[in-house]
Amino acid sequence: MNNLQAVENKTKSAKQPLVTLLKGWIISNNVQFTSHLSAYISLWSNAKFISMTNSEVEQSLSQLKESTTPDLILIDGKNDWQTLIASLKQALKENSRIPDIVLLVDHADTVIMRQALKFGVKDVLTIPFGEEELDQVFFDCAALKKSDVKLGDISVFINAKGGMGASIIATTVAHMVTLQHTSPPVLIDTDAQFGCIPNLLSTNPKFILSDALEQTDDLDEYALQGLLSKHESGLRFIASRKDKLFDTIPTHSPLAFNQFLTKLRANFEHIIIDMSRGIEKFTLPALSEAEYIFIVVQQNVPAIREAANLIKQLKHLLGINDIKFKIIVNRYSKKIEITPEEIKKSLHIDELLLVPNDFQSVSASTNLGELLATHSSKQPIIKGMRTISNIILNKNEKKLKGIERLFSFIRN
Ligand SMILES: Nc1ncnc2c1ncn2[C@@H]1O[C@H](COP(=O)(O)OP(=O)(O)OP(=O)(O)O)[C@@H](O)[C@H]1O
Ligand SMILES: [Mg+2]
Repeated sequence: MNNLQAVENKTKSAKQPLVTLLKGWIISNNVQFTSHLSAYISLWSNAKFISMTNSEVEQSLSQLKESTTPDLILIDGKNDWQTLIASLKQALKENSRIPDIVLLVDHADTVIMRQALKFGVKDVLTIPFGEEELDQVFFDCAALKKSDVKLGDISVFINAKGGMGASIIATTVAHMVTLQHTSPPVLIDTDAQFGCIPNLLSTNPKFILSDALEQTDDLDEYALQGLLSKHESGLRFIASRKDKLFDTIPTHSPLAFNQFLTKLRANFEHIIIDMSRGIEKFTLPALSEAEYIFIVVQQNVPAIREAANLIKQLKHLLGINDIKFKIIVNRYSKKIEITPEEIKKSLHIDELLLVPNDFQSVSASTNLGELLATHSSKQPIIKGMRTISNIILNKNEKKLKGIERLFSFIRN
């Protein structure tokens, strides 16, 4: 008896219906694989799954309409799943909702996990898996479909090199998004060793990221609210730093982090991540799902070189599209001989976001424990950061200026 059969045989009685009807596909060229899985899935009266081979899927893609698109697709990792997912994504690119894709594999090594992230796979189940794992996939997918929410956007701030200013920028921008927007964002500090966001926000966190990642399955809206700490502005955040330095090497799984992110995204419009320490294995899902990746550099050759390397690696590793990359030149000064034009040229990028050097404002605000946007709201450094918060909030700078002008006319 194989492992999928074990899952099927374990529970023969009908299951409590899911919170909403779930339509799905099981894709495999192996009849045993599909029959065991569909027998198990049929225990839910409102899960309607059809089984198809890879070539049947390829043939049906041209006729696929929004109304016939499945909510969940389970793919047998034994066949060429990469080509299949690429064709699926191509066929569904006009759709408003992309189905959740779950890959079932015999061994989930790092190569498979990396490719799965690259192809936007929601979860990878290693055979044998417990029925609870598969049930959880169904519960989550049904809950998300029922809530019919648009998932919030992820914006990542990542340093090209240590100390470029990712933390201060991510925190200030998150604070500005809170002030500019009706619904506050969530700020995540992934740095377990030197994370400074609680200090910058002068707020002690009750829980840290590892607490959240230990219980991702049980996180509902209320549990999430309890785990997140709240700054007086309304900004929610979760930090990673532990008191015991020996415990600081993160061992979180990328899938747990991805699950946590999905839950946050179902409840918040904007998730802002301070990834100042660079790429870590568990944070890869945030990079592959991000709307924007802000790479923070300064005007020096090593930093620009590292940024070029980071862009190259992210493109190669996760297939990230060029338009997601935004380059922030922090501590910008006209006096430094490396010009914006030179930086653009060496990074093959059309636009740079300039945040001026302002040691006085930054050190006064951090020493006083007051956020930059409150302490130095009129300074050019805040103007530079506002361009970034407007990008996150999808505001067109020129349009905004037009509206502001109109309002000032009315006020006069
Ligand atoms: N635009 C700026 N003008 C002046 N000082 C700045 C500016 N941006 C950052 N700094 C200062 O640079 C230092 C590093 O900033 P920050 O902690 O944000 O960097 P980081 O890139 O997150 O560092 P790490 O790699 O340690 O995580 C801080 O002392 C901060 O006050
Ligand atoms: Mg930092």
